[in-house]
Amino acid sequence: MVIQKICCLGAGYVGGPTCSVIALKCPDIKVTVCDKSVDRINQWNSEKLPIYEPGLDDVVKQCRGRNLFFSTDIETSILEADLIFISVNTPTKTIGNGKGRAADLKYIEGAARMIAEIATSNKIVVEKSTVPVKAAEIIMKILRANTKPGVEYQILSNPEFLAEGTAIVDLVEAERVLIGGEETAEGQKAVQDLCWVYEHWIPAKNILTTNTWSSELSKLAANAFLAQRISSINSLSAVCEATGADVSEVARAVGRDSRIGPKFLEASIGFGGSCFQKDILNLIYLSECLNLPEVAAYWQQVVNLNDYQKTRFTRKVIESLFNTVADKKIAILGFSFKKNTGDTRESPAIYVASTLLDEGAKLHIYDPKVEHDQIFYELMHPLVTSEPERIQKGIEIHSSAYSAVSGAHAIVLCTEWDEFKTLDYKKIYEVMMKPAYIFDGRKILDHEALLNIGFHVQTIGKRLSRTSSIRAQGSQTMP
Ligand code: NAD
Ligand code: UDX
Repeated sequence: MVIQKICCLGAGYVGGPTCSVIALKCPDIKVTVCDKSVDRINQWNSEKLPIYEPGLDDVVKQCRGRNLFFSTDIETSILEADLIFISVNTPTKTIGNGKGRAADLKYIEGAARMIAEIATSNKIVVEKSTVPVKAAEIIMKILRANTKPGVEYQILSNPEFLAEGTAIVDLVEAERVLIGGEETAEGQKAVQDLCWVYEHWIPAKNILTTNTWSSELSKLAANAFLAQRISSINSLSAVCEATGADVSEVARAVGRDSRIGPKFLEASIGFGGSCFQKDILNLIYLSECLNLPEVAAYWQQVVNLNDYQKTRFTRKVIESLFNTVADKKIAILGFSFKKNTGDTRESPAIYVASTLLDEGAKLHIYDPKVEHDQIFYELMHPLVTSEPERIQKGIEIHSSAYSAVSGAHAIVLCTEWDEFKTLDYKKIYEVMMKPAYIFDGRKILDHEALLNIGFHVQTIGKRLSRTSSIRAQGSQTMP
């Protein structure tokens, strides 16, 4: 089959950018991205896209209306598509069996049932969402149990490896594309059809083909490995703070070993984002179901360490501020889970902010890309607080870092946005309460310069002493 029309179910952080790049690179294919959410589709069709992703606006502008369409008309798109991506959300279950760990596959099942109900011709159905191993079997069972006469399905696994904030580059210059399929002749033919789509811009040697289950597991494995590196370096950051070693120096020395490599060794206040925790929990649950408790315990520790890191950092903030933050004004710089995205899912800033709010602090929050309503949504969510009204009163959202810090006792930097590196900290020091504190949860600021200005500075994985800078300044007294 030559793929002429593609439909994608789910116009989120993955479906939107992935299909936009497919449309860009495959002008001969009509790509329609569908969602149940009318709001989301309206935004994709507007000037202000629903997600902030560097480079995405340009790609959408080039293709939208040409061979890229965003639509709520799921029926027509399924009917005419040769290939359907399922790119719906797979959150952690919040109720029932496996609550708090297992992936909730209700949206995957819903998408499969929609396809089964609507399709009247052969389809290649591609699982793009991240799922537990064997999820393709669920899709297969639903589709094949509801097949109309003459309609055949092939189910492929094609997990997505993009990271938010760099999604367009990750898609355009993908290090690898992974496609898993059934080992039958028809299955392999479908694999080749999807390879053909990617070969429009990805060198064939970078397209890996495997069986379906290897492909599904590789996605969970990749995220587990990446998160494990962060928890490993974060565990060492605590050792550094206790000993006087510097975690950046340790990461540099360790990462120089080509077997280890330098990437993903940045100690932080903990990893966030919609994927790492969810996918490791998914792997843990899968291991338990397979009666592999030692494997489950191994990966559980990666999550535990991440929780420890968030708690450790927040405790440090409170203890440094004389063990009470009640009624103190604290500026939170950055709320997204990493720079270059407006996404706040599982952002470590949520834990930091909600703990400080519980302690009675008045938070003044600034993030360059997160919508103000989104910050309230996260901090007033029933899973975060049982007192949303009290929490709301403790939060003020700002449109600039300078207005957030004015009159603050402390700055808590939660996201590594570049603009925070170049703020005028002398000016900021002048307008803050004294002693003025900065807690750099991302190790991005010039700590020596801040100490020289007079700030009390704490960061991750490094003890900062004011002695050297005080000596340099001559007269500054330490409270
Ligand atoms: P998202 O929540 O941003 O988007 C999912 C969309 O699917 C929502 O807009 C929802 O309304 C829609 N939807 C649900 N059921 C539908 C249906 N039956 N028909 C049409 N639309 C439907 O989620 P996301 O971040 O794009 O993630 C999607 C999947 O990709 C998840 O499994 C995730 O784990 C995986 N993934 C995410 C990332 C990432 O960086 N966000 C990276 C790789 C993989
Ligand atoms: C991740 C994977 O990188 C991507 O391949 C997968 O498809 C989806 O999940 P994402 O969550 O978008 O992508 O961002 P990523 O860059 O991996 O960062 C995740 C979290 O880890 C962020 O909170 C980030 O700040 C943190 N991080 C990352 C660190 O704390 N230290 C690091 O060295 C790297």
